[in-house]
Amino acid sequence: MEKNYYFDHSATSNPKPQVVINSVIEALTIFNGNPSRSSHKKSIELERKIFEIREKIANFFNIKDPLQIAFTKNSTEALNFAIKGINLENCHIITSVLEHNSVLRPINYLKDEKNIKVSYIIPDKNDEIVIENIEKNITSNTKAIIINHISNVTGYIFNLEKIGEICKKNNLIFIVDVSQSAGCYKIDVEKYNIDILCFTGHKSLLGIQGIGGIYVNKNISLTPIIEGGTGSYSKIPRQPSKMPECLEAGTANVPGILSLGAGIDYINSIGLDFIFNHEWNLTQYFIKKISTIDSVIIYDNFNVPRGPVVSINMKGINASELTNILSEEFNIFTRGGFHCAPLAHKYLGTYDFGCVRFSFGFSNTIEEVNYCIDSLKKIDNFLKNNS
Ligand SMILES: Cc1ncc(COP(=O)(O)O)c(C=O)c1O
Repeated sequence: MEKNYYFDHSATSNPKPQVVINSVIEALTIFNGNPSRSSHKKSIELERKIFEIREKIANFFNIKDPLQIAFTKNSTEALNFAIKGINLENCHIITSVLEHNSVLRPINYLKDEKNIKVSYIIPDKNDEIVIENIEKNITSNTKAIIINHISNVTGYIFNLEKIGEICKKNNLIFIVDVSQSAGCYKIDVEKYNIDILCFTGHKSLLGIQGIGGIYVNKNISLTPIIEGGTGSYSKIPRQPSKMPECLEAGTANVPGILSLGAGIDYINSIGLDFIFNHEWNLTQYFIKKISTIDSVIIYDNFNVPRGPVVSINMKGINASELTNILSEEFNIFTRGGFHCAPLAHKYLGTYDFGCVRFSFGFSNTIEEVNYCIDSLKKIDNFLKNNS
């Protein structure tokens, strides 16, 4: 089989570790029951297994109570639960221009339907400037800060510790989207004063698609936007308010949950720092080498360190054409376009044409990155000879 060069880990991680694949097979064989529904041994055993995975997630993010974590379909669902569930009305919130549509669209719903005013923070290489900007935007009517940790377009890392301090000082709800950072960068819910953490299982956490989760601080009670069976409190007419049932209506995604547990085990066995350093080395090396290619424009190349994401354009070719050539001619898989982050593209000046995103994962090697750099050089030469 022809070798593939997969640089689209921000979309989903690939390949999945063998232990993750094995866990899905286990879910469909050994553990194939319905958790929290029946009281037979199989169901109870699975219930126990799922609790252990909640504990694993709690340890991974430094969350005190594993029962404050609910499983969701992905971070999009978690973010909708959070942003729509905190019952904001006639107030002000702060977010950033680097947000994904899974944050922007629920916020736009609040703007349209609940009279919410929004301030959008821009990134800066100096954290202090970002912090000052956030502080300047806080008013007596500000209720929450909703921000992503690592941008899926530029790899920019928001300083959660400092933003969390501001939230604590000003009594603001702190909602964080860690879709791009969970599994490649340390996240500490307690230390960063995070009230609601939204994560997806299929990116750097290495699980399968269709699983994610949400942590909600005990002091916050979310209004559930989906109601249904929980296997408990069956006679109560509305959704129980207790976590995790409150946000877990319907039969759980057992293969997804087990794959997430296996993904976290895999990450722990290697070490998060080791993973981050490997990805950071590839990212730095890639940036350094492609900076010397005449036609390459790298966007927001100022953040050190940054997530393993590099977005570029090449003069003389549009983003979707470049993505296609990389795929068809070189077997290099990237993502072109707008990456579900329209305001990020406005901020970068790429709103009209998009850009091409290279996102690295733990499975990538320096040889693969070198092949990618050589391929970009070949395209650059072709463009020069044909302009
Ligand atoms: C920053 C960010 N937030 C949220 C999401 C949504 O993730 P999911 O599609 O798994 O819900 C993504 C996906 O690319 C993302 O990059």
